[in-house]
Amino acid sequence: MSRAVAVAPDFDAVPSASNQPDVTVATGPGSDAVVGVLVAASGAAPDGLPGRDTLAAAGFTGARGKTLLLPGLPLRVAVGVGDPATLSNAAVRDIAAAFALAAAGHAHLALRLDSLTDTPVPTEWFAAAVEGIVLARYEFTALRPAVGTPLREVTLVASADALEEAAAAARRGAVLARATTISRDLANCPPAHLSAARMGEVAHRLGAEAGLTVETFDRDELLELRCGGILGVNGGSNDEPRMIKLTYSPDSPTGSLAWVGKGIMYDSGGISLKPADGTHATMKNDMAGAGSLLAAMLTLSELGCRTSVTGYLMCTDNMPSGSALKMGDVITARNGTTVEVLNTDAEGRLVMMDALVMAAEQKPDAIIDIATLTGASMRALGTLVAGVMGNDQGVIDQVLAAARATDERAWQLPQERGYRAQLDSDVAHISNLGGPNAGAITAALFLEEFVDGTPWAHIDIAGTAMADPPGGWRPRGCTGFGARLLAELALSSDG
Ligand code: BES
Ligand code: MN
Ligand code: ZN
Repeated sequence: MSRAVAVAPDFDAVPSASNQPDVTVATGPGSDAVVGVLVAASGAAPDGLPGRDTLAAAGFTGARGKTLLLPGLPLRVAVGVGDPATLSNAAVRDIAAAFALAAAGHAHLALRLDSLTDTPVPTEWFAAAVEGIVLARYEFTALRPAVGTPLREVTLVASADALEEAAAAARRGAVLARATTISRDLANCPPAHLSAARMGEVAHRLGAEAGLTVETFDRDELLELRCGGILGVNGGSNDEPRMIKLTYSPDSPTGSLAWVGKGIMYDSGGISLKPADGTHATMKNDMAGAGSLLAAMLTLSELGCRTSVTGYLMCTDNMPSGSALKMGDVITARNGTTVEVLNTDAEGRLVMMDALVMAAEQKPDAIIDIATLTGASMRALGTLVAGVMGNDQGVIDQVLAAARATDERAWQLPQERGYRAQLDSDVAHISNLGGPNAGAITAALFLEEFVDGTPWAHIDIAGTAMADPPGGWRPRGCTGFGARLLAELALSSDG
């Protein structure tokens, strides 16, 4: 346990798990709600709103994402959608977020998705709208009460004949939004408040509620499993490591997936100490991959996923000390591969190698890993797009499709084996450090060594884990990127 920071034993790292707005679908907005009304950029204004000229005189043209607060009772918000013909799920999520922020001081929001004349309302809009509203109003409240007005209730207005389908979609949106907020809580939680051991406790508590089997492995058990990577990285720490294994096994599964998440509770760099700069100050979120993986697994039973999923969260912090890994140390992965540590700040791949070996031993249909792995991927793709690499185009395409469906964006980088020699070591099978260029790719080449040919894709979320700049459904802080993407991936893997 951290000796510098006293943390109450009953501290709740994930208040979002138990604190979600009520989401309902109804034929009317209810009496106490602020009502959002979708308005196109052309044609007559929807019933019940001022005319187009009046809206225009107030500076509201119906341009996508723009809003206008209309005083009166009920308080209404005109929400611009631009050209309805080009309205995607992603655009609906964005627009719903804009509405939620325009009505930021209000606890009950209702959104009329049905106000666009001649535009049918796809069922999926109800899921996207819930996600946009809930995620835009997220705050991390584990350490102080909400600064803004907490959202208590979301009502989506649907026509009577669409009610049932719309309610199912809204429910799905609520489940996925909750998962994202749990993932955000975990990543926002400071390192002393979320040690690897506490992460294990959270996984036990939330996993049991969600019908998962949860097993945790401590230092001695990891020794027995010959997990030299996570033990090596944990060497400098006062805190115990944890491997957390989550199992979702539906009746007669249609397939099997194994997931691996990087769970570095805090990445100081170790002996290769990071400079005391802004990036270092975000390194409490170096477990965002593990957090998103856990959060995604919490949705599977509720969403009726028919594929079995095993998740491995590799949790420890990465600290310098007299017992820390040294440069030049050689550690041995679970499969016997020896690894020369030429930079202790390339620790993510070290904790993940053992889990990839274990995942491959299960012979799943595919392995997916998710990790805040390299600054290089952030440099290449920025903060809105994750990097995807792998050894199997089919699995990579599934990840990219899930990324498109959820608007958690991703782009493939090449698994360029011509760079593999950069990882050659003079004394061991492989080193953990590539050259100065293509760092995202050499990291993926390192990981590939441990999947034993299993179809595999790797998602590098170093850039997308933090909202920078914040806005829309990605407010300040950690984004929870990957929770919705992985859930979508599991659901779309069904036979
Ligand atoms: N956790 C970092 C990657 C990272 C950087 C995430 C910036 C989010 C923002 C990772 O452990 C790391 O330190 N990677 C090194 C690897 C290098 C030493 C080969 C990096 O990217 O600099
Ligand atoms: Mn590092
Ligand atoms: Zn790291």
